[in-house]
Amino acid sequence: MTKNTTKQDLDFSKKSNLVEPFTLVSCLFIACFVYLNHRALFFHGFPWFKLSYAATSPASDVDQRLGFLDKCDVYDGRWVWDENYPLYQSQHCPFIDSGFRCLENGRPDGFYTKWRWQPKACNLPRFNATKMLEKLRNRRIAFVGDSIGRNQWESLLCMLSSAIPNKDSIYEVNGSPITKHKGFLVFRFADYNCTVEYYRVPFLVAHGSPPRGAPEAVKMTLRLDLMDRTWHRWVGADVLVFNTGHWWSHHKTTNRGCYFQQGTEVNLNMNITTAFRESIETLLNFVHGQVNTNKTQIYFRTYAPEHFRRGSWNTGGHCHHIKFPDFGLYPDKTEEHAEILSRVLSKKHPQVIEMMNVTPMTFTRQDGHTSLYHFGRENETEPPGEDCSHWCLPGVPDSWNELLYSLFLKWESLHSTPISLLD
Ligand SMILES: *[C@@H]1O[C@H](CO)[C@@H](O)[C@H](O)[C@H]1NC(C)=O
Ligand SMILES: *[C@@H]1O[C@H](CO)[C@@H](O)[C@H](O)[C@H]1NC(C)=O
Ligand SMILES: *[C@@H]1O[C@H](CO)[C@@H](O)[C@H](O)[C@H]1NC(C)=O
Ligand SMILES: *[C@@H]1O[C@H](CO)[C@@H](O)[C@H](O)[C@H]1NC(C)=O
Ligand SMILES: *[C@@H]1O[C@H](CO)[C@@H](O)[C@H](O)[C@H]1NC(C)=O
Repeated sequence: MTKNTTKQDLDFSKKSNLVEPFTLVSCLFIACFVYLNHRALFFHGFPWFKLSYAATSPASDVDQRLGFLDKCDVYDGRWVWDENYPLYQSQHCPFIDSGFRCLENGRPDGFYTKWRWQPKACNLPRFNATKMLEKLRNRRIAFVGDSIGRNQWESLLCMLSSAIPNKDSIYEVNGSPITKHKGFLVFRFADYNCTVEYYRVPFLVAHGSPPRGAPEAVKMTLRLDLMDRTWHRWVGADVLVFNTGHWWSHHKTTNRGCYFQQGTEVNLNMNITTAFRESIETLLNFVHGQVNTNKTQIYFRTYAPEHFRRGSWNTGGHCHHIKFPDFGLYPDKTEEHAEILSRVLSKKHPQVIEMMNVTPMTFTRQDGHTSLYHFGRENETEPPGEDCSHWCLPGVPDSWNELLYSLFLKWESLHSTPISLLD
């Protein structure tokens, strides 16, 4: 990631801080625990989590449990310490932007890589890259959204490529380097003829010049009634993973003279909440009209909370000293983006866009951000802005992808033909 890109990506972080005040008490408690009794932490896990449900390894037969997933709210659970994590090492994965390489960029602790998401009512299947690749054979999976979507996409590239010894057999179809920020990047896994794609579409809907006769204040508009014009590139994918949220802020829109347009009309008074809701309605209608929902799995990964403390990205906000999740930190109200999504997506039946509600689980993971470690070591003289929006890899986005994997397997098991059930 270039310096400019980093700055640009960070820019959305100027949005107001949604995070509850840091729970100092629980952090102190964990810190004491670590220093006084680190053996217990590292070798036996956190005993108080084991009281409610043991951190057992998932059962071996995934398919037997898939029915169970139906009744299981996979988003309701806990982070448990697991020595088998992370699922890959960043040094062995060539598909990570330097901006997400916290270890290489000097982050001294690796605690944030050791947490596994454990739903309360069921076990997630252990991620099996070979199995996912086999099911993706001759197919396409595309992430469409902002740079947090890119974060998740790079995580999936690493998770899948861990099963491929010859990394040269995985390549960007246009030869574009991953370190350069492009409109889209398409990685092909040659052994499986499948592609894992990313489209940078931070608002999902289209944007462009204002219509003729619009007031002078209007420099640009977001077309709330039209999908971004890249849609024809990704619409044919077999698995679509949308996300948006961080750019829906005053700073990224109206403050820059970017107003909301529907048809030929620019509405100067529309607030961001309403505009966001309208854009999700547009996405839903688009999916109903343009996507073959018998063939395509469609997910919407919800907002991933930021954790800036005492400021925002450009005013000294930070998170670099945080080494542990804060298990006491849960949103006291439903996060606004997630709430709007859930209301809009449930309007159409059957629900064709499945909401991956990672917001609550991610809320507690204040320890997983790239913070100071998004600049390469050689560039330590760069402006010392911290990034408490994006995530270190390996790290938190891997857990989102484990959830994606379980939903993917579930969908496959519900939609596979009798013939493919046999193999
Ligand atoms: C992963 O999946 C492949 C293909 O389905 C299977 O052969 C292999 O045994 C699995 N690995 C593990 C560790 O379960
Ligand atoms: C490779 O996958 C694409 C879809 O991504 C498909 O159209 C094409 O037919 C596949 N090629 C082969 C040789 O199976
Ligand atoms: C946004 O506008 C809608 C409709 O005008 C209104 O109901 C809502 O309260 C407004 N929300 C905020 C946060 O101002
Ligand atoms: C999807 O499947 C349903 C039920 O099998 C069928 O009625 C419908 O026509 C299919 N839609 C498309 C676009 O293939
Ligand atoms: C550091 O900065 C230089 C010059 O701005 C740039 O060429 C180089 O790629 C940067 N390195 C990293 C790791 O970001």
